[in-house]
Parts: sequence; C-alpha cells; structure tokens
Amino acid sequence: MNPAAPGPSPERRRVSAKAARFTESVIREMTRLAMQHGAINLAQGFPDFSAPEEIKRAAQEAIAGDVNQYAITWGARPLRQAIAAKFARTQGVEVDPEREITVCCGSTEAMISAMLAVVDPGEEVVVFEPFYENYGPDAILSGAVPRFVKLRPAGAGNSDWTFDRDELAAAFSPRTKAIILNTPNNPTGKVFRRNELEFIRDLCVRWDAYAITDEIYEHILYDGAEHISIARLEGMRERTITINGMSKTYAVTGWRVGWAIAAPEVSGAIRKVHDFLTVGAAAPLQEAGAVALALPESYYAELAAGYRARRERLLPALEAAGFRCFPPQGAYYVMTDISAFGFADDVAFSKYLVEKIGVAVVPGSSFYHNPADGSQQVRFAFCKKLETLDAAAERLAKLKSGVKEVRM
Ligand SMILES: Cc1ncc(COP(=O)(O)O)c(C=O)c1O
Repeated sequence: MNPAAPGPSPERRRVSAKAARFTESVIREMTRLAMQHGAINLAQGFPDFSAPEEIKRAAQEAIAGDVNQYAITWGARPLRQAIAAKFARTQGVEVDPEREITVCCGSTEAMISAMLAVVDPGEEVVVFEPFYENYGPDAILSGAVPRFVKLRPAGAGNSDWTFDRDELAAAFSPRTKAIILNTPNNPTGKVFRRNELEFIRDLCVRWDAYAITDEIYEHILYDGAEHISIARLEGMRERTITINGMSKTYAVTGWRVGWAIAAPEVSGAIRKVHDFLTVGAAAPLQEAGAVALALPESYYAELAAGYRARRERLLPALEAAGFRCFPPQGAYYVMTDISAFGFADDVAFSKYLVEKIGVAVVPGSSFYHNPADGSQQVRFAFCKKLETLDAAAERLAKLKSGVKEVRM
C-alpha cells in the first residue's frame, strides 16, 4: 500500500443513490429500542407465542433426515404442491406448481423479486397509503415511481378505511405497471371488499397493469370479514402476482419462507430474479412448510379465534388509556389516533412511550410518504400472548398521569 497515493475520491466512496434514498426500517429500529429500554414490544409484528408443535417437529425431522442442501431454486416440490392445493382449497384458484409458484425467503423477498421482475425504472406503481413500510424501498430498488392513493378512516361508528374511487382512477395512466395491494392490510386492518377489488380489477384491465397482492394476513379476520384474493376475479388470473408466506399464519416469522404465485411467463422472470438474489429459501423449513399448509381447517379457525381474543383485550385498554382506535377488520395491528395526548408528533410520542412508559409502538409517519400525514398516529401490534397485552395495558394505564408529569 502506498500511503502517499490518493485514496478513493469522495465520489467513489459514496453509497449508491438508491441506498441513500431510504432509511433503516423504523419498525426494526423500534424493536432494538424496546430491547434497550426493557419495553414491551408492540411494535414489530412477530408473535411471542409458540409455533405449532407438528411443524417444529417436521423441521427437526427434515434436518435430521439430511434435507440440508439447496432445494430447487424456485422451491421444493412438496411445498409448491401444498401451496397450489391450499390456494385451490381456500380461494378456488387452480395453479400449476411446476410453472406458477416461486418459493422465496419470506414474502419480503417475494415482493422485491416480483417488482424487479415486472417493473422497469421509471414505470409507475400505485400504492395505497398508509402502506407497509417495505413497499417504499421496494419501489426505489426496482426503479418504480410510486403513485400514492390514500386510505382514509371512515367516519364515526364505521371502522372501515376507504379510498376515493376518483382518486384511484386518476392514479392510473399508460405509465402504470402495477398496483400493490395488501389485504388484510397492515397497518390499517382493512380487508378489501369484493366491490372494491372489482373496481381495482377494472382499472388493471383498462390500463393493462399487474396487481401485486400481499396476502400474508389472509387467515386473520374479524367481524365476519371475508378474504378475497384478487386473482380469483374474472380477468385477473393472468395479471396477478399473489404473495404469501408462512410467517404470520404459522407464527414462524424467523423461518423466512414465502412465495409468489403468478402466470408462467411472470413466474419465469420472478424465478430468475429470486435465483440471483438468494438462490433459495431454507430447504428443511420448506419441508416443514408442506406439513404446515396441510394442517386441517380447525387450525385456521383457532388462529382467527386467538387473534379475536387478543384484539378484544387490547382495544378497550387502548381506549381507556386515551387512544382513539381504528378497530381492524383483519391482520393483527391497530392504528390509533394520539391527538388527545398533545404531543408535537408521533416520533416524540413513540420515544416517550418506549422510554418512560415501557411500551414500543411504530410511529404512524413510517407508513406515509409524507410524514406529516402520520404525525398523530401510532400502530400497535397485538400478535402477543394475552399476558403480554395485559402487562402492556397496565403500563399504558399510567400514560395520562405520565404525560402530565413530563409536560410540567
Ligand atoms: C404486509 C406485510 N407483508 C410482508 C411482511 C413480511 O413477511 P415475511 O416475514 O413473509 O417476509 C409483513 C411483516 O410484518 C407485512 O406486514
């Protein structure tokens, strides 16, 4: 090494413009803060209860049975067959596991692989907001130009979030390549209704756009809400990429097994992107995935009932503590309005909650492209044991007096 030689120019040392355009995940950062302050983590959406015994056993047996080398890059056949069987069973959509399914490292990878597979830089992607925070960086990494369309909480007495049909129609144009849909929705808990999906379908057909739909909360539904995959609507089978995964349905967020279902040509492109991004998802966990997806209907009924009980436990506690809740119809989050607490913004409030009250949440601004839109909202995750929720409720009950102390 020649110390006299000039080092790399500042320009060469710069990180890519893409990487510079987004920050670290706020949700994962809140988990780190929760650990640092010994706070109860109602920020990140991972369960604190066990995964089903039979699937843990299946994973152990797969490792013991030497399923320890690369699986086929687009997914082990038993898992792909189980995914196809489940999609047919639950949504009535028949797909070919040999040509239309790609198993990825979580639905997170399925989403970015799908976007890289169908979007060229400069093409537009319609995104409902508030949105799951990954979709922002996904758009940047794939070069997509996001067109945001607002979901707004309906008025008093109506917990639904709705979009303005004219606003959505105006977001589509010849530049639109896809719409990203997430139903049941994180963070709002909205479950898109059939007539809304039909409206979206009509726009996709009119503008020849794809629907990329993230359905990982499909089994977590409340108040009789029905999950409808847009792929099952007439005209959508060929233009939909359905993304799903094991994380939420089987309480295995750390396994990183998800998938994308799409017509053969699109699947071919997704498979290529996926192969060069990650080669494949963990082989033994894919074997266990095939066991999980074949669990009886009673498993899903119990899953939904468990989440109903958690929702019923958390919502009244939040209301009592002074939050205005937007009760979810699906998924395991509740968005809340924090204006009663009189904080300047959601970040200051979240910091106060984690440091002084001992509960971690996600600041609402991380779900909006314009942070001001979420500045009086925070999101709670309730994928936790009832005792965890009770402990959080106890801490939150101190909130009102605590806020007064801080203000004095
Ligand atoms: C809407 C949505 N999609 C995807 C994910 C991540 O899923 P996975 O663990 O399958 O990557 C999450 C996790 O919170 C989510 O809320």
